Amino acid sequence: QSLSVFKTTSYQEKPNDHELSFGRTFTDHMFLMDYSEESGWHDARITPYQPLQVDPAAMVFHYGQSVFEGLKAYLSPEGEPLLFRPQKNLQRLNQSNERLCIPQIDEDFLLYALKQLIQIEKDWIPTSEGMSLYIRPTVISTQPFLGVAPSTNYTLMIILSPVGAYYKEGINPVKIAVENDYVRAVRGGTGEAKTGGNYAASLKAQEVAAQDGYAQVLWLDGVEKRYIEEVGSMNVFFKIGDEVVTPQLNGSILNGITRDSAMALLRHWGYHVTERVITIDELYTEYEKGNVLEAFGTGTAAAISPIGQLDWGHKEMVFNNGETGHLAKNLYDTLMGIQYGKIDDPFDWVINV
Ligand code: COI
Repeated sequence: QSLSVFKTTSYQEKPNDHELSFGRTFTDHMFLMDYSEESGWHDARITPYQPLQVDPAAMVFHYGQSVFEGLKAYLSPEGEPLLFRPQKNLQRLNQSNERLCIPQIDEDFLLYALKQLIQIEKDWIPTSEGMSLYIRPTVISTQPFLGVAPSTNYTLMIILSPVGAYYKEGINPVKIAVENDYVRAVRGGTGEAKTGGNYAASLKAQEVAAQDGYAQVLWLDGVEKRYIEEVGSMNVFFKIGDEVVTPQLNGSILNGITRDSAMALLRHWGYHVTERVITIDELYTEYEKGNVLEAFGTGTAAAISPIGQLDWGHKEMVFNNGETGHLAKNLYDTLMGIQYGKIDDPFDWVINV
């Protein structure tokens, strides 16, 4: 596959780092590639950032056949762009593609194209602490057809967004409600795939929780509503006595790359980390015994987000006095240190662009 590059002639003025929130500013260029049954994935190109022309009958608008990814580029102290485990995201993109009946993509070629795009947009990578260039690959189904079937045509795009903190709280603890009415995903559904529908399905619960003053909800499993699955759009961890627990992957939980990285670091530090089923009843019982020492979410956007308080109906759980715990802080600092190329990277997670 070859990659064509069309540079823009009108460059935007870049915002100051302190003006950045999450996902509202986009860089000057993007990557595009099309799929058709005759040509496979073809016409890979970097172009000026611009609206797409998509047929109103395109299947993505009607049945939501689409997948996306999220990863970040960071600037090293030497001013070089770095990527954190990008191969994992591209692998997961293809796993999501498989679930959504979207054709597989050459991961090596996509990484090459992504690196070219980042090189072109290097000056867009924020330099302030905690800031980075968020990378959003998305595949949409573009065949104009109203029948329910896998599309024959697709477009893959990669857009870039310089970002600050995802939650306004930053690394400060958030207040969470256990969700009892709505579910995010069910086993056998699409919960493990990174597809827009999962996020659309989560909005109602999030909206209701926000009205009651919560930042996010804790999701229980969609069948028995007993097993803890995720928190907001993140994976979730609890420190219970000497054990660090995260729900085991079961098909409805997203296989988070920050989740995997947090487990690896915790094990490297000698913690006893388990991936297992954990019910909300068990969590509350352990809490009452004084054993739940910390809770936090993990994800690319916010990295680590401590849970200060978790309300299960009228039962309130406050972890670590509502303050950021030791594990959350160490994980946050270590992940940041590795991602910005500032500290030793024992697992060779970071690659140069
Ligand atoms: C995350 O990075 O934690 C996400 O789930 C991505 C989010 C912006 C949808």
